[in-house]
Amino acid sequence: MDNRPIGFFDSGLGGLTCIPYLTAALPEEKIIYFGDTARTPYGSKAVSTIKTFSMQIADFLVRNDVKMIVIACNTVSSTCLSDLQERFPQVPVVGIIDPAAKRVARSCGSDCRLGIIGTKVTIRSQAYNRLINEIRPELEVHTAPCPAFVPLIEEGIIKNDIMDMTIKYYLDDFILENRIDTLVLGCTHYPLIRDSIERLYPDLRIINPSEEIINSIKEILEERDMLASGSDLENMFYASDLSENFTNMIETIFAHTPVKVHFKNLDLIDINSTKK
Ligand code: DGL
Repeated sequence: MDNRPIGFFDSGLGGLTCIPYLTAALPEEKIIYFGDTARTPYGSKAVSTIKTFSMQIADFLVRNDVKMIVIACNTVSSTCLSDLQERFPQVPVVGIIDPAAKRVARSCGSDCRLGIIGTKVTIRSQAYNRLINEIRPELEVHTAPCPAFVPLIEEGIIKNDIMDMTIKYYLDDFILENRIDTLVLGCTHYPLIRDSIERLYPDLRIINPSEEIINSIKEILEERDMLASGSDLENMFYASDLSENFTNMIETIFAHTPVKVHFKNLDLIDINSTKK
């Protein structure tokens, strides 16, 4: 048994889309969540910048004695997973792309018309294609970057005409030309627009990595005998800039219980001083 919290992080509020699946599957677990709201979005930034930001956040989580780090961000998972695992060998570091790629490989028939959407960095990394084709080399994987989704979602522009137009701008031709029938939401912000995507393309089958990652977390905790039981800790939420949308979303997840989000300025953390 291990009652220390699990550390989750994302560039902003997207990683919160994993939390309802976590609380449903592992209700005893407590979390520390960090959203880098001051520096979101990550998905169009240089990989070296994303690495620096991720190291700072992981360092903050490790200093807060988390038992595991969950990279609730496809952009970071696609570019920094091995760096984070190397730098923090004392805690398991779990990325979101592996579990989703395994689910795709397990559940898609050979005639599946697969589409992956994500940030520019995630799509450019080809992490999904590589992992899926390692298991299922015959599967054809089509990808499309959708860089405007994250800034709109962070601003709360989610269920309205602007978002519908943006979805159609990115997906109409992509889905039609490639005859996509299965779509992977390769960014943890995108489950927040899932309803709109389903309304606009009712025949699509959707795979949500924010749901899949929970199976990996569970497996690792079970294997290492690290599941929590009877913990009296509180869930903790940190943001590098205070945002109303971020707080509202946490309150929605936790059934409208008022939540305190703590402000944490990561620019003050010097990652070079971190001990391995
Ligand atoms: N939620 C992050 C992801 O899964 C968003 C990246 C961004 O900040 O652009 O990729």
